Amino acid sequence: VNAKAERRESEPVLEPSSAAGYATGDLDRALAGALARLDAASLTRRLRRFDGAPGPRMRVDGRDVLMLAGSNPLDLAADPRVRAAAEAATAALGTAAGGARLISGNLPLHESLERDLAAHCGTQAALLFSTGYMANLGVLTALAGPGDILVSDALNHASTIDACRLSGAAVRVFRHGDPDDLARIARDLPATGRRLLVVDGVYSMDGERAPLAALAPIARAHDMAIVVDDAHGIGVLGPTGGGAAEDAGVAVDVQIGNLGKALGSFGAFVACSHTVREWLVQTARPFIFTCGLPPGAVAAAQRALRIVREEPLRRRAALAMTARLAAGLRAAGLSVVGDATHITGLLTGENERTMELCERALASGVFAQGIRYPSVPRGGARIRLTPMCSHTPAEIDAAIDVLASLSRALLVRDASAHG
Ligand SMILES: Cc1ncc(COP(=O)(O)O)c(C=O)c1O
Repeated sequence: VNAKAERRESEPVLEPSSAAGYATGDLDRALAGALARLDAASLTRRLRRFDGAPGPRMRVDGRDVLMLAGSNPLDLAADPRVRAAAEAATAALGTAAGGARLISGNLPLHESLERDLAAHCGTQAALLFSTGYMANLGVLTALAGPGDILVSDALNHASTIDACRLSGAAVRVFRHGDPDDLARIARDLPATGRRLLVVDGVYSMDGERAPLAALAPIARAHDMAIVVDDAHGIGVLGPTGGGAAEDAGVAVDVQIGNLGKALGSFGAFVACSHTVREWLVQTARPFIFTCGLPPGAVAAAQRALRIVREEPLRRRAALAMTARLAAGLRAAGLSVVGDATHITGLLTGENERTMELCERALASGVFAQGIRYPSVPRGGARIRLTPMCSHTPAEIDAAIDVLASLSRALLVRDASAHG
């Protein structure tokens, strides 16, 4: 059957361009070798297919399953009110901001969301970025450069690590979540240069919180400004969903938040002082040299933020479902990571077993992503689990049963193979 005939009628057909096409040769050969080495180490990643709107149950690779792998803990990405806001903004303003904010793309809607985000975070100002990755690059390269020092947690997100490198500042890495190690490093810092402590609010691959109440006094005692990448904390942690800093009762200098996770949209923001915002507008290259967020994404995030404030039950339910899942797995004798956030993980250690567990769970109706190096340290592979506020206790209990029985089966098999 020819491929064209197989397409559905509604699917537009793009004829191949008549241009010269792409060259193959040495580059492809070199990459094929590198890809084969990844495969041999069970490190090949695969793009799965998710059909339908994001929610607690989804169609994954053609199978209807319980969704425990999303970054949509408050189930707002398909909320009718959030969708309606995006649709109305798109109908009124079009699909694009129309340019970079500093050239032709600064909309009243951007500034209105920035005011709301600043109010939510209790800061003077906020500035939108196109993604969390770009916000981290923008903040750290604007605030630190050669001669400055970034003191960074060992398990910070990849975008923070890249940002530290790109900044040109000296980077000192302290042991993950360890205030004593931070204090040891702080005592040895050179006397000159700006100093910034950089941590994730919630560590995305295991759900641990940064111990901000212990880290902040050390940072303050050594004249460090505090930057928190709160991609996962915003909207979920703290009495009003203000994030990890609100939860810890700690004031920070810069809070980087995400619109594409709990807020069900796309993009990111930096909550900070007026002066820091102005400096970012003037100097942060990932802000200056890129398009403004499209109206639909901005309006969706703004509506979602209101829901976060008005419906605290959502974050309580997401936390409760995650606590139930973690407790059930622990009770089954499994090794579980997490710290009472909406993210938890089942430690599996070894790459191949992790991915086999992931595939078998999918076949049994539960999708939870296996996570391997470099997203986690070598030997620390795990099944990452992110329950949502809209999962039911019965669904969580079913997931516990599936994961516990598959884990036992794989462990018993591997033990007998090695013994
Ligand atoms: C801790 C952390 N920081 C930054 C990001 C990047 O955010 P974004 O997906 O908006 O680029 C993520 C998400 O993937 C994250 O988990």
